[in-house]
Amino acid sequence: MADKTSTDQKPLREKTSEDFAKYFQTTFQPPSLKDARRRRREDIEVHYDFAISEDMQQVGIGKKFFIRTYGCQMNEHDTEVMAGILEGMGYEATTEMEAADVILLNTCAIRENAENKVFGEIGHLKPLKLEKPDLLIGICGCMSQEEAVVNRILKKHPFIDMIFGTHNIHRLPEIIKGALFGKEMVVEVWSKEGDIIENLPKVRKGNIKAWVNIMYGCDKFCTYCIVPYTRGKERSRLPEDIIEEVRHLARNGYQEITLLGQNVNAYGKDFTDLDYRFGDLMDDLHKIDIPRIRFTTSHPRDFDDHLIDVLAQGGNLMEHIHLPVQSGNTDILKIMGRKYSREQYLELVRKMKERIPDVTFSTDIIVGFPNETEEQFEDTLSIMREVEYDAAYTFIYSPRDGTPAARMEDNVSMEVKKERLQRLNKLVNDIALKKNKVFEGQIVDVLVEGESKKNADVLSGYTRKNKVVNFKGPKSAIGNIVPVRIKEAKTWTLDGELVTETTEVT
Ligand code: 5AD
Ligand code: SF4
Repeated sequence: MADKTSTDQKPLREKTSEDFAKYFQTTFQPPSLKDARRRRREDIEVHYDFAISEDMQQVGIGKKFFIRTYGCQMNEHDTEVMAGILEGMGYEATTEMEAADVILLNTCAIRENAENKVFGEIGHLKPLKLEKPDLLIGICGCMSQEEAVVNRILKKHPFIDMIFGTHNIHRLPEIIKGALFGKEMVVEVWSKEGDIIENLPKVRKGNIKAWVNIMYGCDKFCTYCIVPYTRGKERSRLPEDIIEEVRHLARNGYQEITLLGQNVNAYGKDFTDLDYRFGDLMDDLHKIDIPRIRFTTSHPRDFDDHLIDVLAQGGNLMEHIHLPVQSGNTDILKIMGRKYSREQYLELVRKMKERIPDVTFSTDIIVGFPNETEEQFEDTLSIMREVEYDAAYTFIYSPRDGTPAARMEDNVSMEVKKERLQRLNKLVNDIALKKNKVFEGQIVDVLVEGESKKNADVLSGYTRKNKVVNFKGPKSAIGNIVPVRIKEAKTWTLDGELVTETTEVT
């Protein structure tokens, strides 16, 4: 162990990461993208024995926490787990940052602008910390897994109290303990994923819809993507644990679950002694009495025929599939490392349209991948027209340090990338409106989530195909699935009226 008295005389908060490493050899655990890249073969263990140590069960009594979540649904769900752990320590949630004693930023690393937002927020937090020295501020989520980010925080934002990684969430009580009782910044980021911990507490947001993790990590290593480094290798939860969680949610009145994984179609591939894949899981969940089941995100490469057949049963399995294509050009797909061609993707879509009644698709697209030509971009436009996606999330390529694509030379200017994004978005909107228009006059089932954001007199909910519907109705409809006749289609929403006996007669 390092001799703490023998290091140089610099104040703690001015030390570099190397100084820290020397100083706290046992507790300072910075991340390494290189280590995160390695995929090891050893089995993952599943633990059911998470517990908050007795000395930490009351530390939060009378204190409040605030978590700001950036990025994907996986992060949102991690926030629910962290909220569960904090409540287990006696803390109470607050929606006002200024009122909090613990502030966590659950960060996203997927694109540069996501990271910039977080650094902006960190800047805003400094005056709050100066005003309230006992406030604990923690940075967690995907950005914490990047060594460059950790070094930047150590150097430029030494008032931060804790940095912990995506594999260290269950260690939150110990991390807070270190921050409360130690004087220095606690940095705990495991680059290698840990085991699966099943019994972590959760405080779910709302009681109508719930996220359910089915697997963690990603082994696809698309050349632009940081996720396999920040989230580790693919690890599937055991079927019985997932099924029990869904049954529990059904018993508690939840109407919809969304199964989460970076690549849900790879579910079960990592089991060594069990032949059970995503199709089998969906088939088992289909038998549970819960009205709606969705899943995200799918990778086209692993979408197998058995899964298509299972989804074709419909019922509580929604006929809306998020199927990221990323590009419509086979050469670009190859350089992206997506492992399918344009034709293979279209063949998969064709098969699904043929076998899953009334199926609809949404997608993710990256424009301006290094050296993308105008013709290659036009292939993306044409695949949009061919598939007729109901929605598309479109992004300008953002180089991520440590990924292969970030080392590629790029001859496409930002101006061209922006112009392509605009053209793509125009097409996405046109198709979305056209697809929405089809619903005018139709009656659709809407799971009512609450009042619409813009108008408290209007209720808002989602159809089976994940379309937002706004309509006037009684508050008692919230949490139920009700029939709504669509009156007017807009690009991203549908306006309708509740179907009751009276509206039907008139
Ligand atoms: N630049 C731009 N978009 C990206 N995505 C992932 N990595 C990058 C990147 N480096 C997009 C992909 C993915 C979605 C979640 O984010 O489209 O499907
Ligand atoms: Fe990233 Fe590709 Fe994995 Fe999706 S499948 S998380 S884009 S590496």
